[in-house]
Amino acid sequence: MDIDKVRLVFFSPTHTSRKVGEAIARGYAPKETEVCDLTHGALQPAESVKEDTLTVIAVPVYGGHVSPLALVRMKDLHADGAPAIIVVLYGNRAYEKALEELDAFATHQGFKVIAGGTFVGEHSYSSERYPVAAGRPDAADLEYAELFGKKVRTKVSAAESLEKLYVVDVRRIQRPSQPFFPLFRFLRKVVKLRKSGTPMPRIPRGNAERCTHCGRCVEACPAQAIVKGDECNTIAERCIKCCACVKQCPQGARTFDTPFAPLLSDCFKRQKQDRIIL
Ligand SMILES: Cc1cc2nc3c(=O)[nH]c(=O)nc-3n(C[C@H](O)[C@H](O)[C@H](O)COP(=O)(O)O)c2cc1C
Ligand code: SF4
Ligand code: SF4
Repeated sequence: MDIDKVRLVFFSPTHTSRKVGEAIARGYAPKETEVCDLTHGALQPAESVKEDTLTVIAVPVYGGHVSPLALVRMKDLHADGAPAIIVVLYGNRAYEKALEELDAFATHQGFKVIAGGTFVGEHSYSSERYPVAAGRPDAADLEYAELFGKKVRTKVSAAESLEKLYVVDVRRIQRPSQPFFPLFRFLRKVVKLRKSGTPMPRIPRGNAERCTHCGRCVEACPAQAIVKGDECNTIAERCIKCCACVKQCPQGARTFDTPFAPLLSDCFKRQKQDRIIL
Protein backbone atom coordinates (compact mmCIF):
# COMPACT_ATOMS: atom_id res chain seq x y z
CA MET A 1 0.00 0.00 0.00
CA ASP A 2 1.03 3.61 -0.31
CA ILE A 3 0.22 6.66 1.77
CA ASP A 4 1.41 9.85 0.14
CA LYS A 5 -0.01 12.51 2.45
CA VAL A 6 1.46 13.55 5.78
CA ARG A 7 -0.19 15.71 8.39
CA LEU A 8 2.45 17.12 10.72
CA VAL A 9 1.01 18.10 14.10
CA PHE A 10 3.14 19.73 16.76
CA PHE A 11 3.05 21.88 19.87
CA SER A 12 6.49 23.41 20.20
CA PRO A 13 7.15 26.62 22.17
CA THR A 14 10.94 26.41 21.73
CA HIS A 15 10.86 24.70 18.31
CA THR A 16 12.63 21.41 19.06
CA SER A 17 9.48 19.26 18.57
CA ARG A 18 8.81 21.18 15.40
CA LYS A 19 12.32 20.54 13.98
CA VAL A 20 12.19 16.81 14.69
CA GLY A 21 8.65 16.49 13.33
CA GLU A 22 9.68 18.32 10.15
CA ALA A 23 12.72 16.06 9.71
CA ILE A 24 10.57 12.92 10.08
CA ALA A 25 8.13 14.24 7.47
CA ARG A 26 11.06 15.09 5.17
CA GLY A 27 12.43 11.58 5.51
CA TYR A 28 9.04 10.04 4.76
CA ALA A 29 8.95 12.23 1.64
CA PRO A 30 5.22 12.38 0.87
CA LYS A 31 3.75 14.17 -2.14
CA GLU A 32 1.79 16.45 0.17
CA THR A 33 2.44 17.71 3.70
CA GLU A 34 -0.09 19.63 5.77
CA VAL A 35 1.35 21.44 8.78
CA CYS A 36 -0.78 21.87 11.93
CA ASP A 37 1.11 24.06 14.37
CA LEU A 38 -0.83 23.93 17.64
CA THR A 39 1.62 26.09 19.58
CA HIS A 40 -0.57 29.15 19.44
CA GLY A 41 -4.04 27.70 19.13
CA ALA A 42 -6.17 24.60 18.70
CA LEU A 43 -6.97 22.80 15.49
CA GLN A 44 -9.61 24.44 13.27
CA PRO A 45 -11.85 22.89 12.03
CA ALA A 46 -12.01 19.66 14.02
CA GLU A 47 -12.30 17.03 11.30
CA SER A 48 -11.30 13.37 11.31
CA VAL A 49 -7.99 12.50 9.61
CA LYS A 50 -8.59 10.27 6.58
CA GLU A 51 -6.99 6.85 6.13
CA ASP A 52 -4.96 8.10 3.15
CA THR A 53 -2.97 10.37 5.49
CA LEU A 54 -0.14 9.59 7.91
CA THR A 55 -0.14 11.87 10.96
CA VAL A 56 3.14 12.78 12.66
CA ILE A 57 2.61 14.05 16.21
CA ALA A 58 5.55 15.72 18.00
CA VAL A 59 5.22 17.26 21.48
CA PRO A 60 7.45 18.18 24.45
CA VAL A 61 7.79 16.43 27.81
CA TYR A 62 7.05 18.51 30.91
CA GLY A 63 7.77 16.90 34.27
CA GLY A 64 7.91 13.43 32.73
CA HIS A 65 4.48 13.87 31.08
CA VAL A 66 3.20 15.14 27.76
CA SER A 67 2.88 18.92 28.05
CA PRO A 68 -0.69 19.41 29.35
CA LEU A 69 -1.32 22.36 27.01
CA ALA A 70 -0.33 20.17 24.03
CA LEU A 71 -3.03 17.67 25.02
CA VAL A 72 -5.60 20.45 25.31
CA ARG A 73 -4.65 21.79 21.88
CA MET A 74 -4.90 18.29 20.34
CA LYS A 75 -8.28 17.37 21.85
CA ASP A 76 -10.10 17.84 18.52
CA LEU A 77 -7.60 15.76 16.57
CA HIS A 78 -9.53 12.64 15.56
CA ALA A 79 -9.11 9.69 13.24
CA ASP A 80 -10.95 6.53 12.40
CA GLY A 81 -8.06 4.09 12.17
CA ALA A 82 -5.65 6.36 10.23
CA PRO A 83 -1.95 5.67 11.00
CA ALA A 84 0.22 7.91 13.17
CA ILE A 85 3.83 8.32 14.27
CA ILE A 86 4.14 9.68 17.80
CA VAL A 87 7.22 11.46 19.12
CA VAL A 88 8.15 13.09 22.42
CA LEU A 89 10.96 15.61 22.86
CA TYR A 90 12.71 15.81 26.23
CA GLY A 91 15.57 17.86 27.61
CA ASN A 92 18.11 15.08 28.26
CA ARG A 93 16.84 14.29 31.78
CA ALA A 94 14.03 11.72 31.30
CA TYR A 95 10.72 11.31 29.53
CA GLU A 96 9.30 8.82 32.02
CA LYS A 97 5.72 7.88 30.97
CA ALA A 98 5.31 10.56 28.30
CA LEU A 99 5.53 8.31 25.24
CA GLU A 100 3.05 5.84 26.72
CA GLU A 101 0.72 8.71 27.58
CA LEU A 102 0.89 10.06 24.04
CA ASP A 103 0.26 6.56 22.72
CA ALA A 104 -2.83 6.19 24.94
CA PHE A 105 -4.05 9.62 23.87
CA ALA A 106 -3.54 9.04 20.13
CA THR A 107 -5.14 5.59 20.30
CA HIS A 108 -8.11 7.00 22.18
CA GLN A 109 -8.51 9.65 19.48
CA GLY A 110 -8.81 6.86 16.90
CA PHE A 111 -5.26 6.67 15.50
CA LYS A 112 -3.37 3.50 14.76
CA VAL A 113 0.09 4.16 16.25
CA ILE A 114 2.55 2.49 13.87
CA ALA A 115 5.80 4.04 15.14
CA GLY A 116 7.16 5.97 18.11
CA GLY A 117 10.24 8.01 18.96
CA THR A 118 11.91 9.72 21.90
CA PHE A 119 14.22 12.53 20.85
CA VAL A 120 16.40 14.93 22.81
CA GLY A 121 15.86 18.67 22.48
CA GLU A 122 17.67 21.54 24.17
CA HIS A 123 16.13 21.88 27.61
CA SER A 124 13.80 24.85 27.96
CA TYR A 125 15.82 25.91 31.03
CA SER A 126 19.16 25.68 29.21
CA SER A 127 21.19 28.89 29.09
CA GLU A 128 24.76 29.89 28.27
CA ARG A 129 25.63 29.67 31.95
CA TYR A 130 23.81 26.39 32.57
CA PRO A 131 23.64 24.46 29.29
CA VAL A 132 21.38 21.40 29.17
CA ALA A 133 21.45 19.52 25.86
CA ALA A 134 22.34 22.84 24.22
CA GLY A 135 21.87 22.91 20.45
CA ARG A 136 19.87 19.72 20.23
CA PRO A 137 18.37 18.49 18.03
CA ASP A 138 21.69 18.82 16.21
CA ALA A 139 22.54 17.69 12.67
CA ALA A 140 22.92 14.05 13.79
CA ASP A 141 19.53 14.08 15.56
CA LEU A 142 17.84 15.49 12.47
CA GLU A 143 19.55 12.97 10.23
CA TYR A 144 18.28 10.20 12.51
CA ALA A 145 14.78 11.70 12.45
CA GLU A 146 14.87 11.70 8.64
CA LEU A 147 16.01 8.09 8.63
CA PHE A 148 13.13 7.29 10.97
CA GLY A 149 10.71 8.84 8.46
CA LYS A 150 12.26 6.75 5.68
CA LYS A 151 11.93 3.57 7.72
CA VAL A 152 8.27 4.29 8.39
CA ARG A 153 7.72 4.74 4.65
CA THR A 154 9.27 1.32 4.07
CA LYS A 155 6.99 -0.18 6.72
CA VAL A 156 3.91 1.40 5.13
CA SER A 157 4.92 0.30 1.62
CA ALA A 158 5.51 -3.27 2.77
CA ALA A 159 1.99 -3.60 4.22
CA GLU A 160 -0.63 -5.03 1.86
CA SER A 161 -3.41 -2.95 3.39
CA LEU A 162 -4.14 -0.67 6.34
CA GLU A 163 -5.45 -3.69 8.26
CA LYS A 164 -2.06 -5.39 7.81
CA LEU A 165 -0.14 -2.29 8.97
CA TYR A 166 0.60 -3.36 12.51
CA VAL A 167 0.42 -1.27 15.66
CA VAL A 168 3.62 -0.79 17.64
CA ASP A 169 3.99 -1.44 21.39
CA VAL A 170 5.80 1.73 22.47
CA ARG A 171 6.48 0.31 25.95
CA ARG A 172 9.13 -1.85 24.29
CA ILE A 173 11.18 1.10 23.08
CA GLN A 174 14.75 1.00 24.36
CA ARG A 175 15.29 3.49 27.18
CA PRO A 176 18.40 5.68 26.90
CA SER A 177 21.19 4.67 29.25
CA GLN A 178 21.48 6.74 32.40
CA PRO A 179 24.60 6.47 34.56
CA PHE A 180 23.63 5.83 38.18
CA PHE A 181 25.80 8.33 40.08
CA PRO A 182 24.77 11.55 38.30
CA LEU A 183 21.11 10.53 38.68
CA PHE A 184 21.62 9.80 42.36
CA ARG A 185 23.38 13.16 42.77
CA PHE A 186 20.49 14.90 41.02
CA LEU A 187 17.84 13.28 43.22
CA ARG A 188 19.81 14.09 46.37
CA LYS A 189 20.18 17.70 45.29
CA VAL A 190 16.48 18.01 44.47
CA VAL A 191 15.53 16.73 47.94
CA LYS A 192 17.98 19.19 49.53
CA LEU A 193 16.63 22.04 47.42
CA ARG A 194 13.04 21.29 48.39
CA LYS A 195 13.93 21.02 52.08
CA SER A 196 15.87 24.31 51.97
CA GLY A 197 12.71 26.26 51.19
CA THR A 198 14.48 28.05 48.30
CA PRO A 199 11.77 30.00 46.44
CA MET A 200 10.89 28.46 43.06
CA PRO A 201 10.14 31.07 40.42
CA ARG A 202 6.73 30.49 38.82
CA ILE A 203 7.23 32.93 35.96
CA PRO A 204 10.12 34.54 34.05
CA ARG A 205 11.37 37.93 35.19
CA GLY A 206 11.37 40.98 32.93
CA ASN A 207 14.09 43.61 32.82
CA ALA A 208 12.57 47.02 32.06
CA GLU A 209 15.97 48.58 31.30
CA ARG A 210 16.68 46.11 28.52
CA CYS A 211 13.20 45.73 27.04
CA THR A 212 12.59 47.63 23.79
CA HIS A 213 8.91 46.58 23.60
CA CYS A 214 9.51 44.85 20.28
CA GLY A 215 6.68 42.40 21.08
CA ARG A 216 8.59 39.23 20.08
CA CYS A 217 7.84 37.60 23.43
CA VAL A 218 4.12 38.33 23.06
CA GLU A 219 4.12 36.50 19.72
CA ALA A 220 6.26 33.65 21.05
CA CYS A 221 4.14 32.95 24.12
CA PRO A 222 1.84 29.95 23.53
CA ALA A 223 -0.32 30.76 26.55
CA GLN A 224 -1.15 34.46 26.04
CA ALA A 225 0.62 35.19 29.31
CA ILE A 226 2.31 38.41 28.10
CA VAL A 227 0.40 41.56 27.21
CA LYS A 228 1.63 43.89 24.45
CA GLY A 229 2.95 47.10 26.02
CA ASP A 230 3.52 45.37 29.38
CA GLU A 231 6.16 42.87 28.24
CA CYS A 232 8.15 42.87 31.48
CA ASN A 233 5.28 41.29 33.35
CA THR A 234 3.68 37.85 33.06
CA ILE A 235 0.20 36.59 33.87
CA ALA A 236 1.21 33.88 36.33
CA GLU A 237 -2.04 31.87 36.06
CA ARG A 238 -1.44 31.39 32.33
CA CYS A 239 2.33 30.86 32.19
CA ILE A 240 3.43 27.26 31.51
CA LYS A 241 7.15 28.04 32.07
CA CYS A 242 8.00 26.97 28.52
CA CYS A 243 10.73 29.66 28.23
CA ALA A 244 9.81 30.56 24.65
CA CYS A 245 9.81 34.23 25.66
CA VAL A 246 13.22 33.88 27.33
CA LYS A 247 14.82 32.18 24.32
CA GLN A 248 13.27 34.47 21.74
CA CYS A 249 13.90 37.84 23.38
CA PRO A 250 16.66 39.55 21.35
CA GLN A 251 17.64 41.76 24.32
CA GLY A 252 17.95 39.08 26.99
CA ALA A 253 15.28 41.03 28.85
CA ARG A 254 13.40 37.98 30.10
CA THR A 255 15.01 35.36 32.33
CA PHE A 256 13.77 32.31 34.18
CA ASP A 257 16.20 31.72 37.03
CA THR A 258 15.09 28.36 38.27
CA PRO A 259 17.41 26.62 40.75
CA PHE A 260 16.80 23.43 38.72
CA ALA A 261 18.88 24.75 35.81
CA PRO A 262 22.32 24.34 37.52
CA LEU A 263 21.27 20.91 38.80
CA LEU A 264 20.17 19.72 35.36
CA SER A 265 23.29 21.17 33.77
CA ASP A 266 25.55 19.46 36.28
CA CYS A 267 23.85 16.05 36.44
CA PHE A 268 22.73 15.45 32.86
CA LYS A 269 25.87 16.37 30.96
CA ARG A 270 26.14 13.05 29.19
CA GLN A 271 24.09 13.35 26.04
CA LYS A 272 21.31 10.81 25.66
CA GLN A 273 20.50 9.11 22.39
CA ASP A 274 17.34 9.33 20.38
CA ARG A 275 15.35 6.11 20.17
CA ILE A 276 12.76 4.85 17.75
CA ILE A 277 10.45 1.87 17.52
CA LEU A 278 8.41 0.70 14.55
C1 LIG B 1 7.91 22.96 32.53
C2 LIG B 1 8.90 22.09 31.85
C3 LIG B 1 9.13 20.80 32.30
C4 LIG B 1 10.07 19.99 31.65
N1 LIG B 1 10.24 18.72 32.12
C5 LIG B 1 11.16 17.93 31.52
C6 LIG B 1 11.37 16.60 31.99
O1 LIG B 1 10.66 16.10 32.85
N2 LIG B 1 12.38 15.88 31.45
C7 LIG B 1 13.19 16.39 30.45
O2 LIG B 1 14.12 15.71 30.04
N3 LIG B 1 12.97 17.62 29.93
C8 LIG B 1 11.97 18.40 30.45
N4 LIG B 1 11.74 19.65 29.93
C9 LIG B 1 12.46 20.10 28.73
C10 LIG B 1 11.64 19.94 27.46
O3 LIG B 1 11.04 18.66 27.38
C11 LIG B 1 12.56 20.09 26.22
O4 LIG B 1 13.28 21.26 26.30
C12 LIG B 1 11.80 20.03 24.90
O5 LIG B 1 12.75 19.86 23.88
C13 LIG B 1 10.99 21.30 24.63
O6 LIG B 1 10.20 21.13 23.46
P1 LIG B 1 9.84 22.34 22.45
O7 LIG B 1 11.15 22.92 21.98
O8 LIG B 1 9.12 21.68 21.35
O9 LIG B 1 9.05 23.35 23.21
C14 LIG B 1 10.80 20.48 30.53
C15 LIG B 1 10.55 21.78 30.08
C16 LIG B 1 9.61 22.57 30.73
C17 LIG B 1 9.34 23.94 30.18
S1 SF4 C 1 11.05 40.21 23.35
FE1 SF4 C 1 12.32 41.12 24.92
S2 SF4 C 1 12.72 43.18 24.21
FE2 SF4 C 1 11.02 42.41 22.99
S3 SF4 C 1 9.19 43.07 24.13
FE3 SF4 C 1 9.68 41.05 24.88
S4 SF4 C 1 10.97 41.38 26.69
FE4 SF4 C 1 10.93 43.30 25.53
S1 SF4 D 1 5.32 33.87 29.63
FE1 SF4 D 1 5.37 31.76 30.35
S2 SF4 D 1 4.10 30.64 28.88
FE2 SF4 D 1 4.58 32.61 27.93
S3 SF4 D 1 6.40 32.20 26.70
FE3 SF4 D 1 7.11 32.93 28.69
S4 SF4 D 1 7.47 31.08 29.90
FE4 SF4 D 1 6.18 30.49 28.12
